[in-house]
Amino acid sequence: MRPYIICHMITSIDGRLHPSRFTPAAKGVSAKTLSGHYEDVAARFEAEGWIVGRKTMAEIAKGKERGIADAPAVPREPHVGNRNGRNLAIAIDPSGRVHYGKDSIGEDHAVAVLGEQVSDAYLAELREDGVSYIFGGPDGHYLPTAMEQLGSVFGVKKLLLEGGGTINGAFLRHRLIDEFSTLISPAVDGVAGSDSIVDYRGLAGERPSAGQALRLISCETLEGGMVWLRHKVEEAPAESA
Ligand SMILES: NC(=O)c1ccc[n+]([C@@H]2O[C@H](COP(=O)([O-])OP(=O)(O)OC[C@H]3O[C@@H](n4cnc5c(N)ncnc54)[C@H](OP(=O)(O)O)[C@@H]3O)[C@@H](O)[C@H]2O)c1
Repeated sequence: MRPYIICHMITSIDGRLHPSRFTPAAKGVSAKTLSGHYEDVAARFEAEGWIVGRKTMAEIAKGKERGIADAPAVPREPHVGNRNGRNLAIAIDPSGRVHYGKDSIGEDHAVAVLGEQVSDAYLAELREDGVSYIFGGPDGHYLPTAMEQLGSVFGVKKLLLEGGGTINGAFLRHRLIDEFSTLISPAVDGVAGSDSIVDYRGLAGERPSAGQALRLISCETLEGGMVWLRHKVEEAPAESA
């Protein structure tokens, strides 16, 4: 069974993605307090790991490409490193572009979700680093299979989906988001076309949220004026189709 997936994001009042572009904290409001809410709220969910898109993980993982020669040809089957009871740091990386250099991101065990077309040399690099991997179909884009595998291979029941907007959009399109946890910062970005926290990149006119409806389950104001919204994602009522 696939894990329960909560999309946990911090945003400006106009739904934008990049905190570096937000207006600063108002006089007397601590910027540190505001940004600290993200991890504090994440911890409240007691999830067994977090998922990010390839671009976001590439900003976090600090390894270098090693180009391993004479890597053996291996079947495209899940590989499990030494998890050692740790939470999972999962990257959706269809082409195998992220380099880790070790088996962890912070205190969490690194897991790559790949396309089957990645090279044997790349897989050998991951195994040398101790990174676990699974496959999301031939091109790595079949996210429902990948999430099922995360459940069956690692036994995880609850995961946070932590962006960026592109991967959040892909999960929404596949109906893989069970809940949104949105921290609305007392800030605005304001520029047209700036990335937003759910940014589906598909065909013109496609609606990634089709057939789904959101129900507000809680609303809390946190210190400094951050607003924390939780929405459950449900099947849309039949008459809306
Ligand atoms: N405000 C926040 O809380 C927050 C949180 C997280 C990230 N961020 C920021 O967001 C930015 C990155 O966001 P982003 O939207 O550009 O990128 P992203 O979501 O991190 O990664 C997108 C990548 O994921 C892969 N991908 C996309 N669709 C897929 C699918 N259907 N199946 C499998 N893989 C798929 C593709 O990798 P390939 O290109 O390799 O094919 C794509 O380029 C960063 O600057 C980061 O700092 C902000």
